Amino acid sequence: MNLQQLRVLIVGCGNIAGGFDAERPASALPLTHAGAYVRHGGFRLVACVEPEAQRRDAFMQRWLVEKGYPSIETAAAAGPFDVVSLCSPTPLHAAHIAAALSLHPRLIFCEKPVTRCAADTAAAVHVCAAAGVKLAVNHNRRWAPDIQRLSAELRAGHWGAVRSAIGIYNKGVLNNGTHLVDLVQLLLGPLELLAAAAPLFDHWPDDPTVPALLRTQQGVPVTLNAAHAADYAVFELQLFTERGMVAMEDGGAGWRVRRVVASPHFKGYAVLDAGQRTAGEYLASTLAAVGNVHDALTRGTALASTGETALAAQRLCERISRTARALPMDDDFNSTLSPATTLSGAFASTRSPALLPTLTERVPSTSH
Ligand SMILES: NC(=O)c1ccc[n+]([C@@H]2O[C@H](COP(=O)([O-])OP(=O)(O)OC[C@H]3O[C@@H](n4cnc5c(N)ncnc54)[C@H](O)[C@@H]3O)[C@@H](O)[C@H]2O)c1
Repeated sequence: MNLQQLRVLIVGCGNIAGGFDAERPASALPLTHAGAYVRHGGFRLVACVEPEAQRRDAFMQRWLVEKGYPSIETAAAAGPFDVVSLCSPTPLHAAHIAAALSLHPRLIFCEKPVTRCAADTAAAVHVCAAAGVKLAVNHNRRWAPDIQRLSAELRAGHWGAVRSAIGIYNKGVLNNGTHLVDLVQLLLGPLELLAAAAPLFDHWPDDPTVPALLRTQQGVPVTLNAAHAADYAVFELQLFTERGMVAMEDGGAGWRVRRVVASPHFKGYAVLDAGQRTAGEYLASTLAAVGNVHDALTRGTALASTGETALAAQRLCERISRTARALPMDDDFNSTLSPATTLSGAFASTRSPALLPTLTERVPSTSH
């Protein structure tokens, strides 16, 4: 197939730009921007930006990038670009979106989170729209084929009514929490925050992992639970529906579906069977993402993950984080707070990050 070649600039030459794929075999599904662009075949890696000269040279060599620059401003010499991939550290994204717009690309493919706060992300979404530049955000599960099928099945009523959803994650509500909230909003629609619980500072000093209780517009309860990033990485979601339970496990690398069967022990009872683990298609998501980027620019196809969808997730996660950090410290707070906040107090006590007990810390004994 003779694909139209779109001109790409990659900004930031670290892990998600290409590093995660640097030593993976050519046959493995790509996990990075450069890996996916090269595998897709419809892109030309015209230039990259990386202030660290050695890393820039290695990246150019590994991905056959034509030109390398220490800053976005200097990369203008290699323009024009159809696509700018923003893979720089998050604190630089806001400035890099502004700098990328001055290069007049047709689309910015931005790593998540778009910026460090929802207000800046809203501004970024606004300036991209005003400039007529499409903004795709790498909430990559939106492109995973199995997630897209599940989303369509839920909309078509294949699973009947959804009764509840249970998610578990770690490594920060604004970092991995946005992925989880975005995924649930894709599958079940917009969420409303009911309560947030004690923040768990398990990885980032400024971005705790926060348990929360939310609900969909149909009133379906959604709980987000926290695990500690020092133990292991976890990112999972269970949906309990009228017709069984479907669980995304291991970040999307696997699925478990438990069907409704007659209880082998109690006559007349319906229960869930043990289910079976099947492979997931999470690893196909980055290649599908750049395919969607290509189709968006050559055929006008809608983007599956946009600045708007990312902003909706970030706004909610920010609200979760703020609610958790504002939890009162007094023991008598139950008498003075709304029912929603009282519910959050039931999970654990919360103090300043330094004093906050974590789930893995031993509780001091009170006996002598
Ligand atoms: N979608 C996902 O699941 C996912 C996964 C990993 C990372 N990310 C996001 O990707 C971004 C990068 O993360 P990473 O893990 O690849 O980080 P990284 O540190 O491996 O890479 C960032 C690179 O940007 C370079 N850089 C620093 N200043 C720069 C500048 N002024 N201009 C251009 N480049 C500059 C750094 O030298 C480094 O090489 C972050 O926003 C992160 O949240 C998203």
